[in-house]
Amino acid sequence: MGTKVEVKLAPSILSADFARLGEQVAEAANAGADYIHIDVMDGQFVPPITIGAQVVAAIRKWTGLPLDVHLMIETPERQIAQFAQAGADIITVHIETCPNIKQVVQSIKDLGVKAGVSLNPETPASAVSKILPEIDLLLVMTVNPGYGGQPFIESMLGKIAGLRAELDDKNLPAELEVDGGINVEVAPGVVKAGARVLVAGAAVFGSGQTVAQALRELRASLV
Ligand code: DX5
Ligand code: ZN
Repeated sequence: MGTKVEVKLAPSILSADFARLGEQVAEAANAGADYIHIDVMDGQFVPPITIGAQVVAAIRKWTGLPLDVHLMIETPERQIAQFAQAGADIITVHIETCPNIKQVVQSIKDLGVKAGVSLNPETPASAVSKILPEIDLLLVMTVNPGYGGQPFIESMLGKIAGLRAELDDKNLPAELEVDGGINVEVAPGVVKAGARVLVAGAAVFGSGQTVAQALRELRASLV
């Protein structure tokens, strides 16, 4: 401990003003975001419907930052080519939606895109063990997916720490990302537990501050 780890910030546009999405993405990029996190929901895996590949393609024109596309959808294998073509750099699917996760991860990689796998709060860490060596990113949900602005589930800290240890023990390079309820209060704890990419929606786009201020404060909370 004591050695400073590098942490990436991935603002989630779910809490942005969708009527001026391009500007909001540019604002986050100029303020030092590392990834732009895009939440795709289908009204099936989670109740809301958000955005599709066309909107990802539109966002692509506003930033050179990696687009971190989080698919909260059933049968994601039917959609990944569209999102790759739209300019996604990372495509993350949920383990709960993929009976054949190995095949889905491989088809994401075959499209030249980084492959991520996510797991819901109630899904045990052991569910992703076998796929860990194959993936570029592991996304631990720290709220139940579907909505921004929910409180961080504290009991996820142990799961994050366990998965960090598993990645380290097996010497695996997957980035450990956390998503849900991240703000200045919980950010230091999730990093201590082993997260290296922090998604934040409400804390960045819905805080009443400017996006730049909010990102600065989140970054500052980590030192
Ligand atoms: C929730 C989404 C999150 C969401 C996080 O289903 O996957 O990315 O935007 O929002 P906050 O940071 O507000 O919890
Ligand atoms: Zn997300």
